[in-house]
Amino acid sequence: MKAVVLSGGSGTRLRPFTFTQAKQLIPVANKPILFYLLEDIKISGIDDVAIIVGETREEVKEKVGDGSKFGLNITYVEQDAPRGIAHAVKLTRDFVKDEPFVVILGDNLLNYSIKELVREFEESNHDAHILLTRVKNPERFGVAELDTDGNVLNLVEKPKKPKSDLALVGIYFFRKMVFEMIDQLKYSWRNELEITDAIDMLLKNKYKVKADIITGWWKDTGKPEDILDANHLVLDLIKTDIQGTVTKDTTVKGRVRIGKNTTISKNSYLIGPLIIGENCTIENAFVGSYCAIGDNCTLKNCELESSIIMQGTKIECRKKLTNCLIGTDCEILDSDHYPKGNKLIIGKQSKLFLE
Ligand code: TTP
Repeated sequence: MKAVVLSGGSGTRLRPFTFTQAKQLIPVANKPILFYLLEDIKISGIDDVAIIVGETREEVKEKVGDGSKFGLNITYVEQDAPRGIAHAVKLTRDFVKDEPFVVILGDNLLNYSIKELVREFEESNHDAHILLTRVKNPERFGVAELDTDGNVLNLVEKPKKPKSDLALVGIYFFRKMVFEMIDQLKYSWRNELEITDAIDMLLKNKYKVKADIITGWWKDTGKPEDILDANHLVLDLIKTDIQGTVTKDTTVKGRVRIGKNTTISKNSYLIGPLIIGENCTIENAFVGSYCAIGDNCTLKNCELESSIIMQGTKIECRKKLTNCLIGTDCEILDSDHYPKGNKLIIGKQSKLFLE
């Protein structure tokens, strides 16, 4: 079995981060989303992976390399523009050959391994296997209609009037006939070749499409609030591991992970679950639950909760920060000098919510 991971796309909903960064490399609990998927692919017994790359190809190739650090053989497949998930799959025909394969969206996270599903699909006579989950806003997803026996009747991408609340999860198992379906697809209203339409076509051609409704959590990290939600979900599972230095005057409650060469001192207060990376300096700071602080950050005289702070960022500011997604190498400082007032130096499509 082979795997295809989609790491192209434009990530418009995650700007400004995606101006400079691949969205699949945004850290959740200090690890890029894509890494969780690659690690699980390896655990599932798959060695050969094609990664679809687009505009952010250089960054993805630099961070993932040839796959050896994951124990994988990685082939990069270039997509000239985000022309849809089915378009990306179509490009992997030479890579896949006659093998069954799993397609995974590189910005999706789930809290269980695909290992069992891989084994089940390999041993089954299903032509495709899809996963569904109940969502509150089905009009944002590909939506399945099932009959009373749980068989899929049809699938529609982002329907205006959804026939169910069952959304397609971004993990699909296929065999080579899916390529024939994709060849017959027409571009949708949003100018993409939709994988939802390809699966619907498999159904219309009487191929066997198995659908399971998943019970664990699944997160499509398309928007900033989704990334923060995913961070909560992953931090809920972490175990304490303190590698850095925590001085006696610091209070630590709950589960915390602290990286090497990080020092937490001067009456700081940590409430887990939280993660702090390597080489950070934290002084007189309150770092509350569900924070993920990247490597090389400095936090002084500040109060943070439920936020992702990416590497190299410095926060020395008495305003309490909650539910923030802060990029790499940013500075958030007190405005102590005249002229007083909030001084903002922010780039295109940044968002600030000031108190
Ligand atoms: P989406 O989130 O559906 O699309 P997007 O990345 O273009 O984001 P936005 O809607 O905010 O502009 O993509 C799901 C995943 O599939 C994501 O990891 C990007 C990847 N992808 C490709 O690799 N190629 C494509 O043509 C598309 C549409 C997505």
